[in-house]
Amino acid sequence: MISLAIPNLTGNEKKYLDICIDTGFVSSVGRYVTQFESMVADATGSKYAIATSAGTTGLHVALTAVGVRRDDLVILPTFTFIASANAIRHCGADPWLMDINETDWCLDPQKVKEALDTQCEIQNGIVIHKKTRRRVAAIMPVYTLGNIPDMEEFRSIADKYHLPLVVDAACAIGAKYKGVDLGMLGDLSILSFNGNKTITCGGGGAVLSNNEEMASLVRHLTTTARVWPEYDFDMVGFNYRMTNIQAAVGCAQMERVDEFVSRKRKIRDYYYKSFSQLTEQKITLFPTSDGSSCWFSGIVLQEGQGMDEVKSLCNKMKEKDIEARPFWKPVHLQEPYRGCPIEDTNVTDALWDRIITLPCSTNITDNELETVSNTVKYFLKENFF
Ligand SMILES: Cc1ncc(COP(=O)(O)O)c(C=O)c1O
Repeated sequence: MISLAIPNLTGNEKKYLDICIDTGFVSSVGRYVTQFESMVADATGSKYAIATSAGTTGLHVALTAVGVRRDDLVILPTFTFIASANAIRHCGADPWLMDINETDWCLDPQKVKEALDTQCEIQNGIVIHKKTRRRVAAIMPVYTLGNIPDMEEFRSIADKYHLPLVVDAACAIGAKYKGVDLGMLGDLSILSFNGNKTITCGGGGAVLSNNEEMASLVRHLTTTARVWPEYDFDMVGFNYRMTNIQAAVGCAQMERVDEFVSRKRKIRDYYYKSFSQLTEQKITLFPTSDGSSCWFSGIVLQEGQGMDEVKSLCNKMKEKDIEARPFWKPVHLQEPYRGCPIEDTNVTDALWDRIITLPCSTNITDNELETVSNTVKYFLKENFF
């Protein structure tokens, strides 16, 4: 089977795991956690990286740290993995759902600006959503596919409204924006090290920050807000720490981060080149921004086609031992988020059910890439739908 996105564990993972077991450091204390944080900070241009048990818990703690509270609203693209919305809900808040750009599949800053300008008022320095009278507490762009949107525009919107930028960069390790590393862009940015990510710890996450105070608050919250050395706690904290075992795998992975990101970009380039001659069907390729980390690659079926055709092609591919899958179903179509404040979702609605992700593991061979692309082309040519 040529899998969609599987871990590449052929480096020092086993060796470092053995050391954890031999030394007994398997829990949340141990040298790998500190080492992993420093490697992640270096690779993302951040002053501080705080390792967490998952990307979702990283998002929850980051939103808590910037002050998101019950009944607040957080601006979120509807086209994202549901974990982004869940983290907002875990704070007792709701996402205010907005649309994406066709060019990068990320939150559209112009639409965010327009919504804030026309639908909010400022009261005592607080942004109030006029229709619901709820406070808008943060903006959460998502770096879809490892693409970074116009962060200069987001920064100016965030500054104008004094809103924090909490970035869901779950799949974006290795991405840059105009040559600037991703850790320098948001107030807090969150990575995921889940099994399908470019770098994995099995499961895990990290919160990135350049602000010392904010970084210590995040760390404090992830470690039950304990005030050492006694059993004193000064806030309601969380047990969101990464374990030494996860970090041991993470350190071995981070040793190869440049190699892995470069391979992801080559996979993107391969599919771009390979499908460029395809004229029978007007499929398009996933969009890619300059400096994208190219987490996932794939195709978009032509207008008028939808989930039936996507599933049908994925099933055909499966018969040929190739894994291909649909992508994110938007948040506004998910049961728990019906009724959340929402703006127009035209781009998302016209797009999401035509997307097919194709195999893009960092250890996929060139021969396998050729097999995948020839198989897709064969089925499209046969007009199997
Ligand atoms: C955009 C996005 N946000 C959040 C997450 C959640 O990360 P985790 O699975 O590590 O909790 C993921 C991936 O799984 C993701 O793709």
